[in-house]
Amino acid sequence: MMTCKTPEKPEAEALLAWYDRHHRDLPWRVSPAMARSGVLPVPYHIWLSEVMLQQTTVQAVKAYFQKFVARWPTVLDLAAAPVEDVMAAWAGLGYYARARNLKKCADAVAADHGGVFPDTEEGLRSLPGIGDYTAAAVAAIAFDRRAVVMDANVERVISRLYAIDAPLPASKPAMKARVAEITPDRRPGDFAQAMMDLGATICTPKRPACALCPFNGACAALAYHDPERFPVKAAKKDKPVRVGAAFVALDADGAILLKRRIDSGLLGGMTEVPTTGWTARLDGGTTIAQAPFAADWSACGTVTHVFTHFELRLSVFFCRTRRRSGDNGWWEPVANLDAQALPTVMKKAITQALPDAFRQN
Ligand code: ADE
Repeated sequence: MMTCKTPEKPEAEALLAWYDRHHRDLPWRVSPAMARSGVLPVPYHIWLSEVMLQQTTVQAVKAYFQKFVARWPTVLDLAAAPVEDVMAAWAGLGYYARARNLKKCADAVAADHGGVFPDTEEGLRSLPGIGDYTAAAVAAIAFDRRAVVMDANVERVISRLYAIDAPLPASKPAMKARVAEITPDRRPGDFAQAMMDLGATICTPKRPACALCPFNGACAALAYHDPERFPVKAAKKDKPVRVGAAFVALDADGAILLKRRIDSGLLGGMTEVPTTGWTARLDGGTTIAQAPFAADWSACGTVTHVFTHFELRLSVFFCRTRRRSGDNGWWEPVANLDAQALPTVMKKAITQALPDAFRQN
C-alpha cells in the first residue's frame, strides 16, 4: 500500500524556505546547512542561550554566552562551579533570578540526570527554573520536538498574520492556538527559530519590511495596510517611582565598601554598595542620615535605573574614609570591581561617585 505523506502547512513551508536563506548566524545555533551535514545542536548551549535571551537582546547575550561556554564547557562544569562565580559572570545581564535558577537547573541535571538534559517538553519542565517558554524552546530547538514556542517576536508575527484584534496579554492563548495550527511536524525547531528571526529582522515593531516577508501574501494586517497596529496592547500604566540612596566609601588603599544582598528578592545574592531601602515615599530614603556610618559624605547626584515593575532613583553619596572593625561587608579594590557580581544599577551608582571605576583594566 502506498503511504501518503501529509502535505506540510503552506505557512510553515514558506517560512522554512525563508529561514534557509536568511537565518541569523548565532553562536549557539546549528544552521540548516550544518544540520544537513549531520551537526546536532548541543542541548546545554540551547538551554543556556534561551535562559539568557529571556528579556534580553541577542546582541547583549552573544558575549555572555561565549564567556560562559568557554569557562564552563558542559553542564557538569557549571554544576561544579560555586554559585558566586556564576552570579559574578552573569553581572550586567539583568534579571538575576535567572542566574540562580540556571545554577539550580545545572545542579539538577548533574545530580538527577547524569548530566544529560531530558529530551521532551514535559521532562524539561520538571527541572528547576524551566518554565513553559524554556521547555518548549529547548524541546523544539535542541531535540526537534514539535512544541509551540511563544515569545514577543512570535506574538507580533502571529498577531499580524491573523490581524488578532484582542489586546495582549488576554490574547495570548488565542495567539498560541494560531501558532500551534501552523507549527509543522517537520523541522519544528527551525520553524520556532524562524518565527523569532522573522520577528526580529523583518516583522519589526516599527516599519516592518513587509516586501521581504515570506508571509506577505497571507498577512491580514498587511491586507489592512496597518501592520504596526498589531499586536494590540492593553493600555500601559505608568511605572511607579521608588527612591533610595547609595553610599560609595573609598579608603586610602583605593578600596570601596561592598556587601552581599540577601538571596531572596530583587537582585538577590548580588553585590552592592551600602544602600537605604528603596521606598515609594518620594520624601524618604535619600539622606546622609541613613548612611552606614558617620563620615564626611558629599552628594554626587542621582542615577536612574528602570526595573520591570518600577523606576529607581538613587541619590549617590561619596566619602573618603578609613576601615573600621564593625563594617558590614568587605573592602574591594576598585581595580577588582569588574570581577564582582555587581548589577548594572550598582555600577551606575559607583560610576557616579568614581567616574573611572570601571575603566581601570
Ligand atoms: N530569542 C529567543 N530565543 C531565540 C532563538 N533561539 N533564536 C533567535 N532569537 C531568539
